[in-house]
Amino acid sequence: MMLLEVDQLTKEYRRGENTFTAVDHVSLSVAAGEFISIIGRSGSGKSTFLNMLTGLLKPTSGSVFFDGISLENLPDDDLSRLRNARIGYVPQGVSALANFSVFDNVRLPFFLDKREGDISGRASFLLEEVGLQHLADMYPAQLSGGELRRVFIARALVNSPDILIADEPTSDLDVKSAAEVMQLFSRIHQTGTTVLIVTHELDALGFGNRVLKMDSGRLAECLSAEAPFG
Ligand SMILES: Nc1ncnc2c1ncn2[C@@H]1O[C@H](COP(=O)(O)OP(=O)(O)OP(=O)(O)O)[C@@H](O)[C@H]1O
Ligand SMILES: [Mg+2]
Repeated sequence: MMLLEVDQLTKEYRRGENTFTAVDHVSLSVAAGEFISIIGRSGSGKSTFLNMLTGLLKPTSGSVFFDGISLENLPDDDLSRLRNARIGYVPQGVSALANFSVFDNVRLPFFLDKREGDISGRASFLLEEVGLQHLADMYPAQLSGGELRRVFIARALVNSPDILIADEPTSDLDVKSAAEVMQLFSRIHQTGTTVLIVTHELDALGFGNRVLKMDSGRLAECLSAEAPFG
């Protein structure tokens, strides 16, 4: 069974008198263990697509199955629980809780799930993985953009999700920091987590096993590493 099965997913927005199709009948199958990059121009529908994949946004039509479970038919509570436990999502332009330390920001999803276990050990482990152990007691305002991005990635991983989804996690970062974040995704993927990211064309090259391109709400496979350009 596919981890994610997307069928004819569509989102229409109202624009005054008209409707605008932001995501247009997109179908996609994601097998467990894949590393998928989605590229595409600003406004092409990438974030809208991810928000529907993660159950945050209701589609106009079409369906999303996560591990065989239809998101559409899930009661809100169950959907929240599934999302918190099994999907790690780093949305675009996400903001940290300013009054919480880095350590507590990372631990947050664990407490939302009322789980049992060694959360502090897990959070420390993840902060070490993303290279920020030394900043655990700092507050978000004291971190650089790249450091903050890595905090969100650690936070998205705290409940050991089946899939990590990130929306432009390298935007606004300098070349070196962007490369570090991409290498981090590569390591996360190597430990068995399925990865799906929206990213820039250059960052997508050399990472992952599939590159897809979103164009005016339509999603198409880029067959080779050269294809993303153009
Ligand atoms: N809530 C909304 N209401 C109306 N239109 C919207 C809404 N959200 C997004 N749109 C429109 O849908 C289109 C797709 O937006 P989306 O945020 O998915 O693009 P994107 O590919 O993520 O762009 P970017 O690379 O700039 O983040 C845009 O033209 C946007 O203006
Ligand atoms: Mg976007």
